[in-house]
Amino acid sequence: MSIARASRSIAVYHEHPDWFKPLFAELERRGVSYERVDAASHSYDPSESAADVPFSLVFNRASPSAYLRGHAQTTFYTLHWLRHLERLGIPTVNGSAIYALELSKASQLDLLHSLGLPYPRSRAINNPARAVAAVRDAGLRYPVLVKANVGGSGAGIVRYDTEDALASAVARGDVSLGVDGTALVQEAAPLRDGHITRVETLNGEYLYAIDVYPAQGSFDLCPADACQRTDGVELVRGACAVDAPQTGLRVQGTTPSRDIIAQVEQIARAAELDVGGIEFLVDDRDGHHYFYDVNALSNFVADATNVVGFDPFVQLVDYLEARRRSSDHAPRPNGALGSPTAHRWSQETPAGALP
Ligand SMILES: Nc1ncnc2c1ncn2[C@@H]1O[C@H](COP(=O)(O)OP(=O)(O)O)[C@@H](O)[C@H]1O
Ligand SMILES: [Mg+2]
Repeated sequence: MSIARASRSIAVYHEHPDWFKPLFAELERRGVSYERVDAASHSYDPSESAADVPFSLVFNRASPSAYLRGHAQTTFYTLHWLRHLERLGIPTVNGSAIYALELSKASQLDLLHSLGLPYPRSRAINNPARAVAAVRDAGLRYPVLVKANVGGSGAGIVRYDTEDALASAVARGDVSLGVDGTALVQEAAPLRDGHITRVETLNGEYLYAIDVYPAQGSFDLCPADACQRTDGVELVRGACAVDAPQTGLRVQGTTPSRDIIAQVEQIARAAELDVGGIEFLVDDRDGHHYFYDVNALSNFVADATNVVGFDPFVQLVDYLEARRRSSDHAPRPNGALGSPTAHRWSQETPAGALP
């Protein structure tokens, strides 16, 4: 069955029940035609043609932390579906390249290394029995973090302050490498001024940045869960369930240096990140900055207007609309294997410029 081009909408492919409420609200406010597609229960026909796909654009909002919500089936399936769509020439936002990177903290470090950018000293391992030796061989300083390769929202990150603590955890069988049996062993840096910085990008360009002050002992820095500005102002957490617990996470708008913004944009473009946040910390021991996380499933900070002075969902939906319009005007390719996927969308398309 072929579907009339005019009836095609934007698919928002996701499994988290709450995170995308502000996105849906902005799409609805503007009357944009969109469809929620359940990433946790989905099927596709490998033999379908581009004309059968009822979407102008597929916005991938699948999260590597889906397994924590009983949705482990989405993690690798999403990659297969995105690759299928891209073979057909269906435009995707945060497509297979960045999603594959999002699924591997190890590959993120490879990307940073290839760009000549700083990241915390680390080793990748596929067996907990290698953890202690990896720290020694690499000369990592304790404390170290063992980070599951497939993570998100701090999942699967454990800190070990001494070699004894790490060796005992391994001996007890307590070190889990997560869903792909891979983990990073990484130096844990003392955070200068007690915060990390998360820089959001859209279409490979800087959007805004926030300093995030983790709650004591927590690795979950989902900015959408932030409940307070550093000056104590309570934030409205639009992306969270109404009864979500207060996390103790505090945030503050900031503007990184021009050099760091340029590096973040370099990472975003190399990673084929259409929308997402890149995190860095400043190691208090040497004062240098280190990138350590590339997030494609970027939740904008809660109550953004109160934190960074504008609502980034407006820019995001401008971008989605522009991508959709350009898709509606473009001929659909025949879906031959190896057809190129334009990742960094050019504003020279008929869609009109973004603000
Ligand atoms: N090398 C590090 N040193 C100190 N803190 C870190 C380091 N890596 C991560 N963290 C802390 O843990 C949080 C989660 O780590 P991250 O790699 O971003 O995983 P996730 O993908 O779960 O967000 C970070 O935001 C930061 O607060
Ligand atoms: Mg992170």
